[in-house]
Amino acid sequence: MKKIIITIDGWSSCGKSTLAKQLAKALHYVYVDSGAMYRAITLYFLRNNVDWKNDKSVKDALADIELHFATNEATGQTEIYMNDENVEYLIRDLIIAEKVSEVAAIKEVRVFAVAQQRKMGEKKGIVMDGRDIGTVVFPGAELKIFMTADNAVRVERRFKELYAKNPNITIEEVKNNLEMRDYIDSHREVSPLRQAEDAIVLDNSNLTIDEQLQQALSWVKDVVEK
Ligand code: DC
Repeated sequence: MKKIIITIDGWSSCGKSTLAKQLAKALHYVYVDSGAMYRAITLYFLRNNVDWKNDKSVKDALADIELHFATNEATGQTEIYMNDENVEYLIRDLIIAEKVSEVAAIKEVRVFAVAQQRKMGEKKGIVMDGRDIGTVVFPGAELKIFMTADNAVRVERRFKELYAKNPNITIEEVKNNLEMRDYIDSHREVSPLRQAEDAIVLDNSNLTIDEQLQQALSWVKDVVEK
């Protein structure tokens, strides 16, 4: 069957990665979590006290960062490695979420990440989720999905996820973080979050995980059989 590129963009915490992982599994495609790359770069910057307002510091730091994804054989999920260290778990912390939008707004950081993302899509058969995948990384992708969900639903989902790791977290902290990230992500100068003109909107506020998968699979079928 013809292999295509599927892009999934949208607001923070609307379930993009859940859908992307399921689609990749169902179609035997590669899944790439582009947000994980920005999170890993943020982790590196924080650990190494990189002054990210300074162009030269950013450039030097990026030259020392190698990112790749590898499959965890036990779970079947792809995980991100930074300089050969598995950082998949560390990058999900709220400390990273608080800074990642600032780091992801830096032009050099985006050039660095986008070049690698495009390479990963050369053979097609890929599902990539993020904020600018359908607009900047793969503007020619065959299927572009733009995901959204009610704010309250998104806060609740992300709260549950973070609370499982850290019971001290409050719903207010999660809500503030989501609002801040959505604002920065959609207002930055370089590659802001926006819906591609040819994207299909998927509002999953009232959909089950299976319903949204079936909906997306039917779109894939339409595109592949066209
Ligand atoms: O999808 P996520 O929440 O893991 O993404 C983390 C941050 O990275 C998000 O707040 C914005 C940024 N990001 C981006 O700017 N472009 C992408 N393609 C993916 C993520």
